[in-house]
Amino acid sequence: MQVVVLNGVNLDVLGRRDAQTYGGLSLNELETRIYEWAHELTLTVRCRQTNSEGEYIGWIHDAYGDADAVIVNPGAWSHYSYAIHDALELLEVPIVEVHLSNIEEREEWRRNSVISDVVAHRVIGKGPEGYREALEYLATRG
Ligand code: DQA
Repeated sequence: MQVVVLNGVNLDVLGRRDAQTYGGLSLNELETRIYEWAHELTLTVRCRQTNSEGEYIGWIHDAYGDADAVIVNPGAWSHYSYAIHDALELLEVPIVEVHLSNIEEREEWRRNSVISDVVAHRVIGKGPEGYREALEYLATRG
Protein backbone atom coordinates (compact mmCIF):
# COMPACT_ATOMS: atom_id res chain seq x y z
CA MET A 1 0.00 0.00 0.00
CA GLN A 2 1.36 3.40 -1.10
CA VAL A 3 0.54 6.16 1.42
CA VAL A 4 1.24 9.86 0.91
CA VAL A 5 1.59 12.06 4.02
CA LEU A 6 0.97 15.74 3.28
CA ASN A 7 1.90 18.23 5.99
CA GLY A 8 0.92 21.81 5.35
CA VAL A 9 1.60 25.32 6.41
CA ASN A 10 4.00 26.00 9.33
CA LEU A 11 4.72 22.32 9.92
CA ASP A 12 8.24 22.89 8.55
CA VAL A 13 8.95 24.88 11.74
CA LEU A 14 7.35 22.29 14.02
CA GLY A 15 10.48 22.06 16.18
CA ARG A 16 10.19 25.76 17.05
CA ARG A 17 6.48 25.66 17.88
CA ASP A 18 5.10 25.19 21.40
CA ALA A 19 6.25 21.73 22.51
CA GLN A 20 3.34 21.38 24.96
CA THR A 21 0.89 21.84 22.13
CA TYR A 22 2.65 20.10 19.26
CA GLY A 23 4.84 17.45 20.87
CA GLY A 24 8.33 18.92 20.55
CA LEU A 25 9.63 17.05 17.48
CA SER A 26 11.08 18.76 14.43
CA LEU A 27 9.48 17.93 11.09
CA ASN A 28 12.53 15.88 10.20
CA GLU A 29 12.23 13.83 13.41
CA LEU A 30 8.50 13.39 12.85
CA GLU A 31 9.01 12.22 9.27
CA THR A 32 11.75 9.79 10.40
CA ARG A 33 9.25 8.24 12.84
CA ILE A 34 6.56 8.09 10.17
CA TYR A 35 8.95 6.20 7.86
CA GLU A 36 9.85 3.78 10.71
CA TRP A 37 6.20 3.15 11.65
CA ALA A 38 5.29 2.62 8.00
CA HIS A 39 8.13 0.12 7.64
CA GLU A 40 6.88 -1.82 10.70
CA LEU A 41 3.41 -1.93 9.18
CA THR A 42 4.77 -2.88 5.72
CA LEU A 43 3.35 0.27 4.17
CA THR A 44 5.23 2.38 1.63
CA VAL A 45 5.09 6.01 2.60
CA ARG A 46 6.12 9.34 1.10
CA CYS A 47 6.14 12.46 3.30
CA ARG A 48 5.89 15.96 1.84
CA GLN A 49 5.51 19.42 3.40
CA THR A 50 4.88 22.83 1.88
CA ASN A 51 3.85 26.32 2.92
CA SER A 52 2.27 26.94 -0.49
CA GLU A 53 -1.44 26.12 -0.67
CA GLY A 54 -1.28 25.78 -4.46
CA GLU A 55 1.56 23.29 -4.22
CA TYR A 56 -0.35 21.35 -1.54
CA ILE A 57 -3.39 21.14 -3.82
CA GLY A 58 -1.14 20.00 -6.68
CA TRP A 59 0.15 17.15 -4.50
CA ILE A 60 -3.43 16.12 -3.69
CA HIS A 61 -4.12 16.04 -7.44
CA ASP A 62 -0.93 13.97 -7.93
CA ALA A 63 -2.17 11.46 -5.36
CA TYR A 64 -5.11 10.64 -7.65
CA GLY A 65 -4.19 7.36 -9.32
CA ASP A 66 -0.77 7.26 -7.57
CA ALA A 67 -1.62 6.66 -3.91
CA ASP A 68 -3.70 4.04 -2.14
CA ALA A 69 -4.33 6.34 0.82
CA VAL A 70 -3.54 9.88 1.93
CA ILE A 71 -2.79 11.29 5.40
CA VAL A 72 -3.26 15.05 5.65
CA ASN A 73 -2.41 17.64 8.25
CA PRO A 74 -3.06 20.90 6.42
CA GLY A 75 -2.24 23.01 9.52
CA ALA A 76 -4.24 26.25 9.68
CA TRP A 77 -5.61 25.65 6.15
CA SER A 78 -7.79 22.96 7.74
CA HIS A 79 -9.94 25.68 9.24
CA TYR A 80 -10.76 27.66 6.10
CA SER A 81 -9.48 26.19 2.82
CA TYR A 82 -12.46 25.13 0.72
CA ALA A 83 -9.95 24.69 -2.12
CA ILE A 84 -8.21 21.90 -0.19
CA HIS A 85 -11.63 20.45 0.70
CA ASP A 86 -12.60 20.35 -2.99
CA ALA A 87 -9.27 18.79 -4.04
CA LEU A 88 -9.57 16.08 -1.37
CA GLU A 89 -13.17 15.41 -2.39
CA LEU A 90 -11.91 14.25 -5.81
CA LEU A 91 -9.83 11.43 -4.33
CA GLU A 92 -11.30 7.94 -4.38
CA VAL A 93 -8.92 6.53 -1.75
CA PRO A 94 -9.21 6.79 2.05
CA ILE A 95 -8.07 10.05 3.59
CA VAL A 96 -7.03 10.39 7.25
CA GLU A 97 -6.96 13.86 8.85
CA VAL A 98 -4.35 14.24 11.58
CA HIS A 99 -3.82 17.12 14.00
CA LEU A 100 -1.03 16.97 16.55
CA SER A 101 -2.92 19.22 18.96
CA ASN A 102 -6.47 18.84 20.17
CA ILE A 103 -8.09 21.45 17.94
CA GLU A 104 -11.43 20.82 19.61
CA GLU A 105 -10.13 22.16 22.92
CA ARG A 106 -8.28 25.21 21.64
CA GLU A 107 -9.42 28.59 20.26
CA GLU A 108 -12.94 28.75 18.81
CA TRP A 109 -11.64 29.30 15.24
CA ARG A 110 -9.63 26.06 15.37
CA ARG A 111 -12.55 23.88 16.37
CA ASN A 112 -14.00 23.70 12.87
CA SER A 113 -12.23 21.72 10.17
CA VAL A 114 -13.66 22.33 6.70
CA ILE A 115 -12.21 19.03 5.44
CA SER A 116 -13.73 16.76 8.08
CA ASP A 117 -16.67 15.71 5.87
CA VAL A 118 -14.41 14.31 3.14
CA VAL A 119 -12.13 12.17 5.34
CA ALA A 120 -12.59 8.54 6.32
CA HIS A 121 -10.97 8.93 9.72
CA ARG A 122 -9.65 11.68 12.04
CA VAL A 123 -6.88 11.53 14.67
CA ILE A 124 -6.76 14.62 16.86
CA GLY A 125 -4.67 15.62 19.85
CA LYS A 126 -2.42 12.54 20.01
CA GLY A 127 0.81 14.39 19.16
CA PRO A 128 3.29 12.68 16.80
CA GLU A 129 1.76 9.27 17.72
CA GLY A 130 -1.34 10.41 15.85
CA TYR A 131 0.45 9.67 12.58
CA ARG A 132 1.16 6.13 13.78
CA GLU A 133 -2.51 5.72 14.60
CA ALA A 134 -3.40 7.00 11.13
CA LEU A 135 -1.02 4.47 9.52
CA GLU A 136 -2.41 1.66 11.69
CA TYR A 137 -5.93 2.60 10.67
CA LEU A 138 -4.94 2.34 6.99
CA ALA A 139 -2.99 -0.91 7.47
CA THR A 140 -5.94 -2.52 9.27
CA ARG A 141 -8.47 -1.21 6.78
CA GLY A 142 -6.33 -2.56 3.91
C1 DQA B 1 -2.48 21.71 13.56
C2 DQA B 1 -3.57 22.54 14.24
C3 DQA B 1 -3.84 23.81 13.50
O1 DQA B 1 -4.86 24.57 14.16
C4 DQA B 1 -2.59 24.66 13.43
O2 DQA B 1 -2.84 25.83 12.68
C5 DQA B 1 -1.41 23.92 12.92
C6 DQA B 1 -1.22 22.53 13.33
C7 DQA B 1 -2.08 20.50 14.43
O3 DQA B 1 -1.42 19.61 13.90
O4 DQA B 1 -2.39 20.46 15.62
O5 DQA B 1 -0.56 24.48 12.25
O6 DQA B 1 -2.98 21.23 12.33
